[in-house]
Amino acid sequence: MTSTVSQPPYYENHGFQPENVCSARQPVNANPDPKYFSTNAPSAPSCDPTVATHQSSGPVACSSGRTCAPNVKKTIVIILSILLVICCAITAYFIWYFVQNRCVTSSSLIECGSSGVCLPPSQWCDGVIHCPNGEDESRCVRLFGPNFILEVYSPVSKSWYPVCQDDWNDNYGKIACKDMGYSVDTYYYSRGVATEVSFKSFMKLNTSAGNIDLYKKLYSSNSCASGNVVSLRCIECGLSTKNVNIMNRIVGGSGAVLGQWPWQVSLHVQGTHVCGGSIITHQWIVTAAHCVEGQFSDPYSWRVYAGILNQHEMLLGNGHRVQQIISHPAYDTDSKDNDVALMKLETPLRFTDTVRPVCLPNPGMMFQPNQQCWISGWGAEYQGGKTSNNLNYAMVSLIERSRCNSIYIYNDMILPTMICAGYLRGGIDSCQGDSGGPLVTNKNSVWWLVGDTSWGTGCASPNRPGVYGNMTVFTDWIYKNMQVKYRLFLIILNVPNPET
Ligand code: ARG
Repeated sequence: MTSTVSQPPYYENHGFQPENVCSARQPVNANPDPKYFSTNAPSAPSCDPTVATHQSSGPVACSSGRTCAPNVKKTIVIILSILLVICCAITAYFIWYFVQNRCVTSSSLIECGSSGVCLPPSQWCDGVIHCPNGEDESRCVRLFGPNFILEVYSPVSKSWYPVCQDDWNDNYGKIACKDMGYSVDTYYYSRGVATEVSFKSFMKLNTSAGNIDLYKKLYSSNSCASGNVVSLRCIECGLSTKNVNIMNRIVGGSGAVLGQWPWQVSLHVQGTHVCGGSIITHQWIVTAAHCVEGQFSDPYSWRVYAGILNQHEMLLGNGHRVQQIISHPAYDTDSKDNDVALMKLETPLRFTDTVRPVCLPNPGMMFQPNQQCWISGWGAEYQGGKTSNNLNYAMVSLIERSRCNSIYIYNDMILPTMICAGYLRGGIDSCQGDSGGPLVTNKNSVWWLVGDTSWGTGCASPNRPGVYGNMTVFTDWIYKNMQVKYRLFLIILNVPNPET
């Protein structure tokens, strides 16, 4: 595009200027030529049209021979106005600061997410939803570490406490599991495990408290009479009946046998395998958000196949219909940040030796930098290949984020919601069609879902390992969405699920 203006346009707020702009501009505070301070000067400067606050095509100047008299009164008015504006800005900042932090400033109230609604600690974890998005009741219990230690949140001290086994029983266990989002019929066990030295305070049950909410029955204590805390399992997960043959495709993998990866599912659209997924409960499947993007976001187009190794065999059955798809609200198509989604099945899966859930990682679980993990799926067996007919698996090692982010690997593309796994020498990797499927590890004789297959540059190329969704950071979001009370609350309020 050509321009008739020789000088580039510039944006400058000249505001008020003494009319000496007719001559060369004076530096600020410089003593202007006294002749321009004549009291006979016109009250409106003759240069007014050149005081511009908008785009102009060149420096503004008075036409030659015109005098530009200053107006002292006007200067004072302008200075006062500027001071007034500054005062208003400062006041506005303080008002904003107060509104932003009103939960903190008004005596230890807790804010519901970032909604601006504040509640007293006594209304948190009391069994009744008060927050607009149910945050006050969504994180009151959790399972911590590889031993599934039950912990209860205290809104007063803003910390988590293990629960004494002392008077605990299965009924309490079922309530806690239900609160986390599990259905009572998957309840597995509550067991006492020896307290660890790191535990300083505990929660104890006040059994004489009558028929009130579980969390109101709990009080803090420095010890547990039994010396044991509750280890709670809400579902029998992470069990594989077949050993993994370490010597033993994916790219560079081996053919799986039935029951080896019982949580692995194949997700079909119009009779074609599109992505993998992992069973976490009878009704919930974890997959990747990029699998259910755009035209694939309609739950009714999907069929889920579990306990079948061969793709042709799947087409003989009907698969499970999908009732709902919940994609992570912060999923980003370009960076693949938060690449995780949940699928809720219309009818529950029947668990067998070949159809079983994997365990979601608990907070406080440490995976070693080079931890041995396993990937499985029906993805391509070489870069650019087609979907495999049989389920394949391979062993991969976790790669530290800092290393994976190095300039010669993924150069800072690995966000905290991602985890790298594979080999820098290449040769073994997940590939197209494996997405959404599991990256698992075995710890304490339990299989844990470490990640969901997300992306990679090419497949199995040197210095381009596989990138997986970091499941540990997604578990809170997963539990919250599984919680019936949270979903019911949204339905009752007729609010569209903010998580979809
Ligand atoms: N995005 C792929 C899919 O939709 C998975 C790619 C994994 N790539 C890799 N090099 N590990 O199936």
